[in-house]
Amino acid sequence: MHGIAFRFFISAALYVLIGMALRIYMAASGDHAMTPVHAHLNLVGWASMGLFGLYYHNVPGAAQTRLANFHFWVSSIGLWMMVPGIALAITGGPEGLAAGSSFVVIAGMLLFVFIVWRSRGAVSELA
Ligand code: HEM
Ligand code: HEM
Repeated sequence: MHGIAFRFFISAALYVLIGMALRIYMAASGDHAMTPVHAHLNLVGWASMGLFGLYYHNVPGAAQTRLANFHFWVSSIGLWMMVPGIALAITGGPEGLAAGSSFVVIAGMLLFVFIVWRSRGAVSELA
């Protein structure tokens, strides 16, 4: 695995490591307020970005495009906004960052829909 696929997968693995560590810290401290942060680090970070990585590994033609690189950055920046954004919103802070992040994250997913659609019929590594 290399290129965009590797970048997505290594980031995803790092996000779930942080998500797990956060959850263990929460369990130890007895403060469960940050569960939505844990959930989104793991599901937007690990599950979704990990799946993007597997897709790009499986369909190299889709990975070798500038749009795939853009998709990586939009998805990453969306998560980097979402995690502190949710934490701020939960702790009674401003909700703007969480709200803004939702548009960046959904823009990343829209890009992915387009990339998958555009690579229909592409040769799969697994085929
Ligand atoms: C060290 C590993 C993990 C620990 C100790 C852990 C622990 C927990 C606990 C105790 C909760 C319940 C929180 C509550 O209801 O207050 C929770 C919620 C959740 N966890 Fe984890 N978790 C771990 C890894 C994961 C992973 C790998 C994923 C996803 C890939 C995940 C996804 C979620 C989600 C989505 C929720 C929210 C569920 C809901 O809203 O009902 N967790 N976790
Ligand atoms: C634009 C992207 C997203 C936005 C704006 C968003 C927003 C939210 C909000 C506002 C909640 C309620 C939190 C609460 O009531 O405490 C929530 C919960 C949840 N979301 Fe998301 N979400 C997004 C993407 C995702 C994705 C992609 C997944 C899964 C792959 C996901 C999985 C969950 C789960 C499992 C919960 C329940 C977790 C909990 O109870 O803490 N979300 N989300």
